[in-house]
Amino acid sequence: MTKRILVTGAAGFIGSSLCERLVGDGHRVVGVDNLFRGRLEHLSALEQVEEFHFIEGDTREKSVLDACGAIYGGFDLVHHLAAINGTRWFHEAARDVIDVNINTTLATLAAAERWDARYVFASSPEAFGEEELMPLKESSASSFPSAHQHQRHSYGGSKYLGEVALQHAVASGLDARIVRPFNAYGPRLLGDAYGQVIGMMFQAVASKQSIQVHGDGSQTRCFTHIDDVVDGFVLAGTLDDDLVENKPLAGCSFNIGSSEEVSILELADFIKTAVNDLDLSIINTEGYHGDSKRRVPDCTSAEHLLGWQCATSLEAGLKRVWLELNVQP
Ligand SMILES: NC(=O)c1ccc[n+]([C@@H]2O[C@H](COP(=O)([O-])OP(=O)(O)OC[C@H]3O[C@@H](n4cnc5c(N)ncnc54)[C@H](O)[C@@H]3O)[C@@H](O)[C@H]2O)c1
Repeated sequence: MTKRILVTGAAGFIGSSLCERLVGDGHRVVGVDNLFRGRLEHLSALEQVEEFHFIEGDTREKSVLDACGAIYGGFDLVHHLAAINGTRWFHEAARDVIDVNINTTLATLAAAERWDARYVFASSPEAFGEEELMPLKESSASSFPSAHQHQRHSYGGSKYLGEVALQHAVASGLDARIVRPFNAYGPRLLGDAYGQVIGMMFQAVASKQSIQVHGDGSQTRCFTHIDDVVDGFVLAGTLDDDLVENKPLAGCSFNIGSSEEVSILELADFIKTAVNDLDLSIINTEGYHGDSKRRVPDCTSAEHLLGWQCATSLEAGLKRVWLELNVQP
């Protein structure tokens, strides 16, 4: 059935692909983004599409959300992805990260309540802080160290509080669900100094520079292809309770991540294989304080309740992204 869907952070890396998928699935979609980190070119495929509208604005503002809601007379579903993401921002602009991430979540939760819409929140494994027990289950505890010198947790802390606010809204009757993507990658991932590791490594290769590895590169992650991440959001948003043995999905959280755990040094080798240049040089640079040593998901809820599966191997996914980037020699 066609739904009226709001996607916040629509011009961003994940939001733009989610908008494309939802419109492709026949829904009527409004995307909103203040273009802090998003790019309009990510939405170029939807420019002439009647079922898609873009509004430039700040989703902390009720007036912006009201303008979005006026287009279709409310929404059936809100995917809330707007946030300040990117590790360098967590350290350089901790208070902005806290302000934007918490206040966009509070404002969109309130709007979803006004519209009587289902709500999906893009949280993060960083909401678990420095929890060391792996794999991270949907129900794992969060562990945050002393705030001193821990600007990094402006982000994870804001996502944790977003989840707390969401659970409060669920207790008040909202059908809201949590998605935690584990290190998504795809051709739109930013590769500048404020970007994320796979984007940065591909950008280094494209500009014929050494691949940088933070610290000794032994820290591990589970990188997840954008198509698998978008699948997770779509399933979390569209599945009705009666399709999952009448277990209420409101308040459920879903880890969406690959089971392939690789160190950052191993990732650099995967990148060399993907670009077919095994002689590329690697340099070690200073890492970020508070960076987790391991980040491994347990995706039991996503697999059992949503029927989600990670379909793309890291090797195949990286090769695909490199082809899509279409870098000229
Ligand atoms: N990329 C990942 O691996 C990953 C992992 C875990 C969680 N997430 C979460 O998923 C969501 C999307 O991440 P992404 O990688 O696409 O990041 P992104 O930075 O590409 O997208 C976020 C978008 O939000 C927009 N935005 C920021 N502040 C805003 C505001 N006040 N009003 C309106 N728009 C605003 C930005 O311009 C940007 O386009 C974020 O909430 C992020 O925290 C991402």
